[in-house]
Amino acid sequence: MQIINGKEVSASVKAQVKAECEQLKKQGVTPGLAVIIVGDDSASQVYVRNKEKACEECGFYSKKYALPKETTQEELNNLVKELNNDKSINGILCQLPLPEHLDDKEVINLIDPIKDVDAFHPENVGKIMIGDYSFLPCTPAGIIELIRSTGVDIIGKKAVVIGRSNIVGKPMAMLLLHENATVEITHSRTKNLEEAAASADILVVAIGKAKFVKRNMVKEGAIVIDVGMDRDENGKLCGDVDFEDVKDKCSFITPVPGGVGPMTISMLMKNTLTAAKIQNNID
Ligand code: GUN
Repeated sequence: MQIINGKEVSASVKAQVKAECEQLKKQGVTPGLAVIIVGDDSASQVYVRNKEKACEECGFYSKKYALPKETTQEELNNLVKELNNDKSINGILCQLPLPEHLDDKEVINLIDPIKDVDAFHPENVGKIMIGDYSFLPCTPAGIIELIRSTGVDIIGKKAVVIGRSNIVGKPMAMLLLHENATVEITHSRTKNLEEAAASADILVVAIGKAKFVKRNMVKEGAIVIDVGMDRDENGKLCGDVDFEDVKDKCSFITPVPGGVGPMTISMLMKNTLTAAKIQNNID
């Protein structure tokens, strides 16, 4: 079994983005990312801090908008509209989840699709569906990079995705399909989920349940990708896969932390660079 080092793969993506950013700056363009966070969710605060740090590493301009949890929909909408018109900002990201009284769909729909570096806007989601896209969905695209880093060919492989969220499960299935895998999407209501998982050459788990995937759900020699960010019974950070239980059954596995997480952020940097290029008519 080999551990897929997400930090390493992520660092090489960021190094490439940084080099391209330097070229852009010579042409008078500095990629700019606006990150909006509403309320005081502690996990979100860590994610946002890491996104800002990555911007700095890549040489981007970044601006954080930390809004109080009492923020109204109108105030949030107005900020997005303002950022849509701000020339120094190429990418707009609204960290999810939002406090309950706010509608995330409404905000996502307001983000100008050419600044939608999360690729959450319906226009970008539609483009992902037909395989014609400018912005990659960050987490799924990062996972494709991690699978590529193993050197294992994806074509014709059986890929099983556990989880059907709009952020991970659904776009993940689509990207694996574009890579010519044979894809099955499973979820909390799937019958015989264990059997389905155990048939996978590539198993991507994004169900949000600590240590959900056990040894009997993993095929011998499979690649296992763990998108989970959970807490175990002792409050310790862990993934959706019981790492210790399955590790010697798979060929490659991502750890938590240090697997998928860093890739999501480097793909966000890649999208922000792309956004800056598109908005300045640079190839
Ligand atoms: N919350 C969890 N993951 C993400 C993400 O990729 N983007 C945003 N905006 N919020 C998230």
